[in-house]
Amino acid sequence: MGYKTRSKELTLMSETNFIKICKVSDLPNRRGRKFTIAEDTDIAVFKVGENVYAVSNTCPHNQTNVMYDGYIDDGLYLACPIHGWQFHLETGKVPAECKGLSATLETYNVKIENDEVWIEVKVKKKKWWQ
Ligand code: FES
Repeated sequence: MGYKTRSKELTLMSETNFIKICKVSDLPNRRGRKFTIAEDTDIAVFKVGENVYAVSNTCPHNQTNVMYDGYIDDGLYLACPIHGWQFHLETGKVPAECKGLSATLETYNVKIENDEVWIEVKVKKKKWWQ
């Protein structure tokens, strides 16, 4: 019972919000751009054809902030430029044939309105007792 209450309180302490980061026309096709969305959070944003994807700029293998400089293959897998681990731009998951790798690249929801790219981020709210 106490756990459920605590969990509910924690859920209420954060919510999501969309922030505008750039225009779609600012993004080169199939090349990444890095954006800082919080003091300690960089994301890598990619335009592939008509779609825009946003993932963490931090590779889950070595915690290196280089994903914006990765290579995208035809299957929408982004390869880290350091050791080549691949992560799907939509799911953040490694390819199915890479059994044993449990790493996942964090992904972000993207919406486009009037040529503007909006990224969904979690907003931490102060706890009511602080
Ligand atoms: S640091 Fe990205 S694959 Fe090793």
